This record gives sequence, structure tokens and C-alpha cells, in this order.
Amino acid sequence: MNREVPLQADGRRVTTVRDRLWARYRDDNIAEQLSSVPWNNVLDAMLSHRSIRSYLDKPIRPEILAAAQSAPTTSNLQAWSVIAVQDPDRKARLAVLAANQRHILDAPLLFAFVADLARLRSISADRDHPGIALDYIEAFIFAIADAAFAAQNTLLAAQSLGLGGCYIGAMRNHPAAVADELALPDEAMVVFGMTIGYPDPSVDSDVKPRLPQNAVLHREGYSSAAPDTLAEYDRRMQTFQAEQNMRLIDWTEQAALRVRDEAALTGRRVLKEFLMRRGFSLR
Ligand SMILES: Cc1cc2nc3c(=O)[nH]c(=O)nc-3n(C[C@H](O)[C@H](O)[C@H](O)COP(=O)(O)O)c2cc1C
Repeated sequence: MNREVPLQADGRRVTTVRDRLWARYRDDNIAEQLSSVPWNNVLDAMLSHRSIRSYLDKPIRPEILAAAQSAPTTSNLQAWSVIAVQDPDRKARLAVLAANQRHILDAPLLFAFVADLARLRSISADRDHPGIALDYIEAFIFAIADAAFAAQNTLLAAQSLGLGGCYIGAMRNHPAAVADELALPDEAMVVFGMTIGYPDPSVDSDVKPRLPQNAVLHREGYSSAAPDTLAEYDRRMQTFQAEQNMRLIDWTEQAALRVRDEAALTGRRVLKEFLMRRGFSLR
């Protein structure tokens, strides 16, 4: 069953629910089965997500913070912060530190999402509490998770307003220099950046297919993905790559290369040492 999906805020083409599902999986059966589920604008925004790396030269104001702060947060501790960077010189310096990614220069706004235990440390000290739990990996995990939930809310909110964006994991390539550039205190770390801007409509990019659901959905307990499931995804991704004029490579090969060796970490092998130097105990 096909239902009309409302026109998106950025005026991109109207597609049906079935189209959206097909684009995400490139699988007629799944598209058909799932397209009868009740549909709404939130699902539509989620399913139409694609990372945007080309922007119009049009300024924006960083006012989607309420959506970011509305994300769930561990025990309401809100162990995250975000730094909005709009100064072109600072963006340029950060772009150099983040693999010279052009879209950091082009985007009118760069958010740096911070796993922030510094605020809780200072609150603990002010109240004469030792803050021992902050020394444990557990605290680091919840700070990163909180930052990620806030970031994803930000991206969805931006998309709902006709904006687009892209996470910048490369902000961890030179963590100390990034921390210095953004004047971070101890026990605060940039988890990733996020470029935000109005998508350039002349640059066409499509929704990137994801793994078949049975590769990620495990019922009652973990089971390894069947090899033919992954092979099918390799085929679908190659079709997508051909359409987008991208280099043709199996996704399984690309994924294995991305985690192959220390070089694949693009500098991020120093993270543990950086964290220890910045006051994270990670016990
Ligand atoms: C934490 C994180 C870090 C990322 N870092 C980068 C990055 O540094 N540069 C980039 O161009 N894309 C980056 N991406 C975007 C991913 O490459 C992208 O989400 C993925 O290929 C899926 O494509 P889609 O978002 O268009 O569906 C990052 C995504 C995440 C979630």
C-alpha cells in the first residue's frame, strides 16, 4: 500500500512510504511488507536521512539546542556540551585537524559535541563530594552516549527545518589540538563534530541503503549474520555506488579495511593516552 508522504521542508521530491523504505533497503519485499505501517512526519524525517556535505552560502543561527537538550540523558546528568563554531578562521583550523574536509569550511555552522564530565566534577567539588564515580569508564560511556543522543536529535531537528548536516568523526584525529582550539577543560572531550547548513540542491545525493534487517535484528539472543545476507548487501551497495558515481567496492571489504590496522585509525590510536592526560581516569 502506498501513502503519500508530505513534501519535505526543503522542498525535495515527494515520495511514497514504499519509496522511502525501498531506498533504505533496496528490497521490494521489505518495502512492500513495511509500507502498510502507520506513517508520520517523524518516521519520514528519519527514513529520508542522508549526510549532507554541500551547502548553500546562506547563514543559519544555531537555535536547535532545545531539540538537542530534549534527548534522553543518563539519570538526567546531562553529561554533554556542544560548542557552536561559526568563525571562519576557527572552522578552517578545525578543518585542517579533521582531515582537511572541505565541507567543514563550506558549512556555515560546525557543532562540536563534547562528552563533558567537567561540569559534574565541578558540581561535586562545590558540594564537597568526592565524585569518585566520575573516575570510572562507566562515566565516560554515559557522557559519550549523552552527547550522541543530543547530536542525533540535533541532526533530525535540522533536517526537519530543511537543513542538512554531517557528523565529523575526524574531529578525534588530533584530540589535543582540537581540545586546545576549543578551550576544553580537563575531563571534556570532543566526541565528534557536525556540520550544518542548507543543502545545495544542485548536488544530488541519495539515501544510502543499510544492511538487511535480519543482519542487525536478533530475536531473543545474538545470532551471526548469514553470509548470503552480507553478500546481498554488497550487491545492493554496489548498485548504489554505481548510481552515485562512487568507487565500486564491496561494503564488507570497505568495512574490513576501515578497521584493518593502526593506520586505519587516522591518528585516533592516541585517544586513550589523550584521555588520561586530560584527567579522565577510565578505571
Ligand atoms: C560518529 C560519526 C562520524 C562520522 N564522521 C564523518 C566524517 O568525518 N566525514 C564524513 O564525511 N562523514 C562522516 N560520517 C558520516 C558517515 O560516513 C555516514 O553517516 C554513513 O556513511 C552513512 O551515510 P548517510 O549518513 O548518508 O546515510 C560520520 C558519521 C558518524 C555517525
